[in-house]
Amino acid sequence: MAKNFYITTPIYYPSAKPHMGHAYSSIIADFFARFKRMDGFNVHFLTGTDEHGLKIQRAAEKKGVKTLEFCDELSKTFKDLSKTLNLTNNDFIRTTEDRHKKSVQFLWNELKKNGEIYLSKYSGWYSVSDEAFYNDDEIEDLDNKKVAISSKSLVEWVDEESYFFKLSKWEKPLLKFYKDNPDFISPKSRKNEVISFVKSGLKDLSVSRKSFSWGIKVPHDDNHVIYVWLDALTNYMSALNYPRVDDELFKKFWPASVHLIGKDILRFHAIYWPAFLLAAKITPPKKVFGHGWILSNEEKMSKSKGNILDPIEIIDQYGLDPLRYYLIKEVSFGNDGNISQDKLEDCINSDLANNFGNLCQRVISFTIKNCSGKIPEKINFEKEDLDILNKYKENLSKIRLEIDNQNINFYIDYIINSLFEANKYFNDQEPWKKKDNPLRLNTIVYSTLEIVRKVSFLLYPIIPQSSLKALKIFNLNEKDIDFASIGDNTFLKQGNSINKINILFNKIEKKND
Ligand code: ME8
Ligand code: MG
Repeated sequence: MAKNFYITTPIYYPSAKPHMGHAYSSIIADFFARFKRMDGFNVHFLTGTDEHGLKIQRAAEKKGVKTLEFCDELSKTFKDLSKTLNLTNNDFIRTTEDRHKKSVQFLWNELKKNGEIYLSKYSGWYSVSDEAFYNDDEIEDLDNKKVAISSKSLVEWVDEESYFFKLSKWEKPLLKFYKDNPDFISPKSRKNEVISFVKSGLKDLSVSRKSFSWGIKVPHDDNHVIYVWLDALTNYMSALNYPRVDDELFKKFWPASVHLIGKDILRFHAIYWPAFLLAAKITPPKKVFGHGWILSNEEKMSKSKGNILDPIEIIDQYGLDPLRYYLIKEVSFGNDGNISQDKLEDCINSDLANNFGNLCQRVISFTIKNCSGKIPEKINFEKEDLDILNKYKENLSKIRLEIDNQNINFYIDYIINSLFEANKYFNDQEPWKKKDNPLRLNTIVYSTLEIVRKVSFLLYPIIPQSSLKALKIFNLNEKDIDFASIGDNTFLKQGNSINKINILFNKIEKKND
């Protein structure tokens, strides 16, 4: 089987600066990209910005700047954030780029050619904030205003000529598609809501707007711009040079392995997107994973609620890796999770500083004092060493499987457990009492160093900078990181010198301690 893996984040609206929710999706996607890369896959990892539509046009108008200039400026803050978060994305797509516009217009023509698009008139509710059409039964009154029940965002009445996509005709094929591809909508808990929505009956979808101009023009009809979601979703293919289907990138990476998204945009990805693709005779992606929301004070973080945590502020205060670690660990993946600075500090102190940082420092100083700073040469594994070392090899396929099911919690629990066991092993074996038995002392030191090496590899997708810093102990670099080698118990070269490293994580003094 070809070891290709294509993962995407949503392309974010550059209507305001990025917040913690955006950082969260991107960090999780980077985690999977790094894991797959260290497991020998060719990885393509895409992120970007979604720049058309009324939402963006109005945000620019409010600022009194030209729309494209507005997008240039804000898109850059997202691109900069990718760097700040140490993302390994291979590409950053902007929907205002020519390569994207061409793809979207091509896809439109395909749909038109296949008889999937017709001209009519749309009358109904539209939320500019969500860029979504809503049925009457999806609307409620809130403080005398009409809002969408699901997102609580304002809706307005739209009445205009519009092109429609024949979504209704895809109801049955979609249900069959979900049945044939049981992992397509993940996690499983989200599947039912999508299926029951489809079963309740799909109406044809308005896919163009006439009352504003900020978008990609409908081919052969300049009065219309293409609905921003049909435009945006296509990014996943335009970045692979669609419609050049014999292009290297497209051949290798389409269909996408997983579109990682928040549950707020599941309907677009799990219903509209596969319907568009099936209608254009293109294979839909393999999986859409809708993760939960990061909550701040029990509420979804959003601009309109004003409860936004700024990732840059947190990174300035604590550093990037602690934030990455915390987000990956603390939010039970797939569910909503409340985050707080207090819990972030606990995480740094207990997991990163105590569990991982201390283990590294202890074994380094012990090796320097008792093994002349070298990886011990004469060793002889005994049962208690092999018990702990062999577990890694035994769990390789389990870890791979859990990762393919996006079970991040399993992965991080596995690491925490391993660190706990490693510290316990070092304590229980009491190498400091083995000075009259160098073979035993050497073996304990070698085994502990091996464990530090294995765990540092495992930590790489989560906290890459710190992992690489720890691997400096052994003069290992990024290119040496290889997941399969975690199963090797004699990876470290005997006789090589080890290096002292600075403290990996500083403990935070907590006010209430
Ligand atoms: O929806 N918790 O863009 P968007 C977790 N442009 N994740 C969150 C979050 C939160 N509180 N808030 C946002 C759009 N996100 C479209 C997408 S894709 C073809 C087009 C993350 O700027 C999460 O991934 O509103 C969510 O789905 C996405 O940001 C929405 O970003
Ligand atoms: Mg949104």
